[in-house]
Amino acid sequence: MKLYHGNAVSLIDKIKDNSIQSIITSPPYFCLRDYEYPQQIGLEDQVEDYLTKLIQIWNTAKNKLKDDGLLFINIDDTYYYPRPGETKIWGMNANGDKRPGIKKHNEYRKSSLMAVPQKLIIKMIESGWIFRQQIIWQKPNCMPESTTSRFTRDYEAIFMFSKSENYKFNQLKEDMKTEDLSNPRGSNGTTKQSGRRNEENKKTEYTRNMRSVWSINNVCSSNNNHYATFPAELARRLILCSTDEKDTVLDPFSGSGTTLKVAKQLNRHGIGIEINSKYVELAEKNINDLFTKVEIIKEECI
Ligand SMILES: C[S@@+](CC[C@H](N)C(=O)[O-])C[C@H]1O[C@@H](n2cnc3c(N)ncnc32)[C@H](O)[C@@H]1O
Repeated sequence: MKLYHGNAVSLIDKIKDNSIQSIITSPPYFCLRDYEYPQQIGLEDQVEDYLTKLIQIWNTAKNKLKDDGLLFINIDDTYYYPRPGETKIWGMNANGDKRPGIKKHNEYRKSSLMAVPQKLIIKMIESGWIFRQQIIWQKPNCMPESTTSRFTRDYEAIFMFSKSENYKFNQLKEDMKTEDLSNPRGSNGTTKQSGRRNEENKKTEYTRNMRSVWSINNVCSSNNNHYATFPAELARRLILCSTDEKDTVLDPFSGSGTTLKVAKQLNRHGIGIEINSKYVELAEKNINDLFTKVEIIKEECI
């Protein structure tokens, strides 16, 4: 396990070319949180600057990824609520966290979503990535919202990109639901057959290819001292489908180390990059709980 402490924009290039099987990550969302470092991503004045930095990272990452590798990006959108005037003013979000105001963008009307994930997808396609799938992470325990003018948001997206048309993908299976069993439809699920069968057979008969809407509870931030972690189950599914044992997984925004910790549990190698020393320490602690030595490499400018 290797953890680089510094800026992903420059550090990602230190990774050996063609060495990574899967990149699983959640970059900071545009203008939602302050990660307390001047070189952090997410607090650019304009959304275009934010996207340019992300694209720069993904384009360098492409060289690091094996030809049959995959890239998964968990990213969400931001509502455009500019502060009066042009200066950034700090406000509060629904959780009571400090959140930055957004600078003026003439292309949006007030209260519009900024379509940041959609813009990112288009730029990725233009940069030569193959956009293979959108996975919906549905959160049964989503944050309640008091708004009366739209529905409560209860999901985020994970975008899956490949470098080549042929890539490593281990199909995951899930149990078929009771309603599907009463009306089974062939090809991507195995249907019920007649005759006596043992429990093990029953299990394989009632499974189907995993669907792309995943209901997974969000993790409670206060449990791990990082406010924007994704659940281990999410990382587990993405690692299992895109890698085999001993493959290497990269998370260039590793935060509390969720991806790396799960990679270790699944007997994969892991490389992380994180700008905030507090989270580097947290990730080290989380991974070391599994008796693994984490090699920490610090960027000189931090
Ligand atoms: C959404 S969080 C990732 C959380 C992670 N998935 C987890 O489960 O803990 C994004 C992380 O990116 C880090 N970050 C922000 N700008 C960065 C940069 N330029 N280089 C590396 N890390 C950065 C933040 O400090 C934050 O921990």
